[in-house]
Amino acid sequence: MITIRKATVTDASLIARQRVQMFQDNQLPCVGTWDELERLSQLWLTEKLQSGEYIGLLLQDETGAIVGGAGIWQMEWPPHYLHLEPKRGYLLNFYVAPAMRGQGLAKQLVRAAENVCREHGIRVATLHASAMGRPVYTALDWTESGEMRKLL
Ligand SMILES: CC(C)(COP(=O)(O)OP(=O)(O)OC[C@H]1O[C@@H](n2cnc3c(N)ncnc32)[C@H](O)[C@@H]1OP(=O)(O)O)[C@@H](O)C(=O)NCCC(=O)NCCS
Repeated sequence: MITIRKATVTDASLIARQRVQMFQDNQLPCVGTWDELERLSQLWLTEKLQSGEYIGLLLQDETGAIVGGAGIWQMEWPPHYLHLEPKRGYLLNFYVAPAMRGQGLAKQLVRAAENVCREHGIRVATLHASAMGRPVYTALDWTESGEMRKLL
């Protein structure tokens, strides 16, 4: 049986690995090397897990092996017409091991991440959907927000 557990600071390297795999599985090019991205991600995750700004969720099988995960980054955000609390949730690092895909695990992670947001008083959450992830979020009523981006 697969269960979801909260990540600890010692999981930072594992989450950084999943993050790199997430980009690689979507055939995205990296501006630097993948090793550099993994190392810098681990540093960032260690700091944010320590402060509680990042909450990690990990999918664990009955042997204790981790088969996927996701994260919630509690971002400081000015009060807004959609929410008066000065924060938003950013959902990131959704990853399910290839052998475990297509069983609804990503959907479980999204629902669990939404609950974490609610528990922390977060009323608006955003994410960037990869091509692989888009059907999962759409099925759970996530909608396009009209956000724009420019590489500078
Ligand atoms: C995207 C990913 C997390 C989905 O994990 P998963 O556990 O296979 O997803 P689920 O089984 O919960 O799928 C949920 C729904 O989306 C559909 N779906 C999932 N992946 C899909 C895909 N690649 N193409 C089409 N539909 C897909 C499933 O059919 C399912 O719909 P259903 O419940 O109506 O059958 C996984 O493919 C992955 O790790 N990909 C690489 C990393 C990545 O892209 N992460 C998302 C970043 S935004």
